[in-house]
Amino acid sequence: MKKVDFSAQVTNKLAKSVLRSLGRITLAVVLPLFFSSSSCANQKLSNVGLKKAETQLSGLRDVATKLNKIPRSTNPDKSVKWIEEPYDWTEGFWSGTCWMMYDFSKDKKWKDAAIESQKIFLEHKNLTNDHDLGFIFNNSYGLAYKITGDNQYKQVLIDAANSLITRFNPKVGCIQSWDVTDNWQSLRGWKFPVIVDNLMNLEMLFEVSKLTGDNKYREIAITHANTTLKNHFRPDASSYHVVDYDPETGAVLKRVTAQGYANESAWARGQAWALYGYTMCYRYTNDKKYLDFAQRVATFILNHPNYPADGVPYWDFNAPDIPNAIRDASSGAIMASAFLELCKYTDNKYLANAQHILKSLASDKYAAKPGENGNFILKQSVGSLPHGREVNVPLNYADYYFLEALTRLKEMNL
Ligand code: GLY
Repeated sequence: MKKVDFSAQVTNKLAKSVLRSLGRITLAVVLPLFFSSSSCANQKLSNVGLKKAETQLSGLRDVATKLNKIPRSTNPDKSVKWIEEPYDWTEGFWSGTCWMMYDFSKDKKWKDAAIESQKIFLEHKNLTNDHDLGFIFNNSYGLAYKITGDNQYKQVLIDAANSLITRFNPKVGCIQSWDVTDNWQSLRGWKFPVIVDNLMNLEMLFEVSKLTGDNKYREIAITHANTTLKNHFRPDASSYHVVDYDPETGAVLKRVTAQGYANESAWARGQAWALYGYTMCYRYTNDKKYLDFAQRVATFILNHPNYPADGVPYWDFNAPDIPNAIRDASSGAIMASAFLELCKYTDNKYLANAQHILKSLASDKYAAKPGENGNFILKQSVGSLPHGREVNVPLNYADYYFLEALTRLKEMNL
């Protein structure tokens, strides 16, 4: 691991706890533009948040619908950055966002926008050169099926799952994340890279087994989850980003990073994917080892000395410039959503943590003023800092998980 200069951190435990409390008090006092209207004072966080999100996102919806494009982020000149062909791992999140907005508002404009935008990438269900089909299709067509019950969406999920499982190698016990023959991945000398993010693709496999009655998808998902549990984590339950395997023997060749600060650091979104991923695996399997591990990841996050008082993590828990390091709102949103699901299995143990993150994200520090930020909801996310890509910008998946968390909160009547 490169030298990490933590000299600027507060090291005294008592001082840290005082700072955390102060942070929470400050947050409560200054809270938010998002909640600034006095008429919102007694309303539920979920309803206020979803309503404001709808107003903000409808501007983006109108432009996206007109151009028939999918928004991803913003450009340096603050214009909207649209998804480019041929393929983008984030292309399903906008349709999912529209489905959640439709579910909340019942406004047909959202349904139309969801349907039109997911047509754009429909044919990608047949791609077998990347692992992100779960992210793409479960969060778009999967939501479409859940919300409308329309059978045409079911077949799309089945097709995408059939493409995804072609990447499963029984010797390794994992689905290969990235091909190593082109792009920047070809320069790293990897043979069979698996990234912790890949846990998120398993949700579609579990769903497709339920839809078809065929357990092969579920068995692959469980094998992948178990192999990852064995090889991807340090004793403190923090996650490596990339584990490279020998595809012939299944042996671990190396444990490194792609998007984190260092090979031995804890990239924030990786921890968020692990938290969400194992919570979701428990939902489908009732296997307590997944629940126990999700709680160990939760403990790593919540007890980490570099976890900020407002609950929105730095882009990497070991970023060298903490406390001046950039935050990653996307990680905060994913964690909040995962904590809310974890509440179901733990007698609401993580409810205060989730609510605290969501209140922070809804504050004017992270939530954009109406009409600004390309009409995305959240500011301050990080795509990949080591690649110099999408640093301190809005991201469609940050908004997606923020809305998912608010929707989960609404289901809890909060
Ligand atoms: N799955 C890619 C990322 O989290 O950036």
